[in-house]
Amino acid sequence: MKAIHKPQFVEDVATLRPTEVPTPQPKGDQYLVRVTHCSPQHADILHAKGKHQNNTKRGWCHPPFNLGYDFAGVVQSVPSLGSKSGSKKGDRVFGAGIGAFAEYVCVPEGAIRRIPEKLTSETAVAMSGQAVSYASVVHITKVQPGETVLVSGASGGLGSVCCMAAKAVGAKVIALAGDEEKAKHMRRDMNVDLVLVMKDDWIQKVMDFTKGVGAEVCLDNTGMVNDAIRCLAYFGRICILGFAARKGVMEEVKMNKLLLKSITVVGYRFGESGRRYPETLEEIWRGYLSMLETGKLQPLLYGKYEGLEDIGRALKDLEDRKVYGKIVVKVADLPAGSRLT
Ligand SMILES: NC(=O)c1ccc[n+]([C@@H]2O[C@H](COP(=O)([O-])OP(=O)(O)OC[C@H]3O[C@@H](n4cnc5c(N)ncnc54)[C@H](OP(=O)(O)O)[C@@H]3O)[C@@H](O)[C@H]2O)c1
Repeated sequence: MKAIHKPQFVEDVATLRPTEVPTPQPKGDQYLVRVTHCSPQHADILHAKGKHQNNTKRGWCHPPFNLGYDFAGVVQSVPSLGSKSGSKKGDRVFGAGIGAFAEYVCVPEGAIRRIPEKLTSETAVAMSGQAVSYASVVHITKVQPGETVLVSGASGGLGSVCCMAAKAVGAKVIALAGDEEKAKHMRRDMNVDLVLVMKDDWIQKVMDFTKGVGAEVCLDNTGMVNDAIRCLAYFGRICILGFAARKGVMEEVKMNKLLLKSITVVGYRFGESGRRYPETLEEIWRGYLSMLETGKLQPLLYGKYEGLEDIGRALKDLEDRKVYGKIVVKVADLPAGSRLT
């Protein structure tokens, strides 16, 4: 099969091209999936360059390996030890597993979910990594109708869905962007109340929008707790989701600033919470998929990418911060005999 195979780490993700590698053979507890779509994310760039925390000898991704994580596809074979989820050959599924930038990937139970009939495979893969955004709104900060929610990294995969989920529960949303060019697209394509470029007097603009009160909630994807404190209301809530802008250097926060405004800061690591609280995880997926199936959440798709040959271009566009929303790369048509339910 063809795959973005990494015999060693690369400096420039734009140089990544598919090569011929052996088709993976599923172990007893694994599904074999024909990949039809994949959706590159920030972590894939780190994996390709050897800069991810999992790029150690003991981690998941050390050369040689096939790159990629989020995918949608069609089950080719079920685990020989049995399928607990009931997924069958021919089912459309989405999920995550190292090696997804390939024609085939092997994944264990729990790494895939069936795609609901109403969703296209493109939508499923574009939204597969953002249940965390939904959960940050509904389960962690418990956003209420009428509250103002500030979202950093709002153009990103997580951020764009934070905005949509907050709007879906009736909040007003202020989306933060890195530059004016991107902000222009976001004003056109994202259903938010205000898009601000993070420069000059943006904090004052948040205060003006909220009539001097400040936003009730900040969903922070970039690492901007100190800025958030300056434009949050008393008893405001900050949910830390990621540090996309920190370049590995963490913020320091003066505790008295939290006390003076009675601010709550909570970190949320989706994967770990899911492993520890599987019932809550299922509840989150039910709520998230229901919002997707009823059209309350819709993917914001960026550009057109087709074939594994386009993976290098997709990752480079991500790295250059051109992207708003999610990239989906179509890898193959649905194989004949695929089931829609
Ligand atoms: N908590 C969890 O469980 C969880 C799960 C998955 C991912 N994450 C983390 O959440 C963060 C966001 O992930 P994502 O998939 O949404 O990433 P993404 O699609 O790359 O979006 C990140 C956004 O941050 C902004 N940004 C600001 N400074 C940046 C910089 N120096 N480099 C890149 N982007 C920068 C960009 O918008 P502008 O260009 O407009 O500024 C970009 O759209 C990442 O740190 C990721 O590791 C957390």
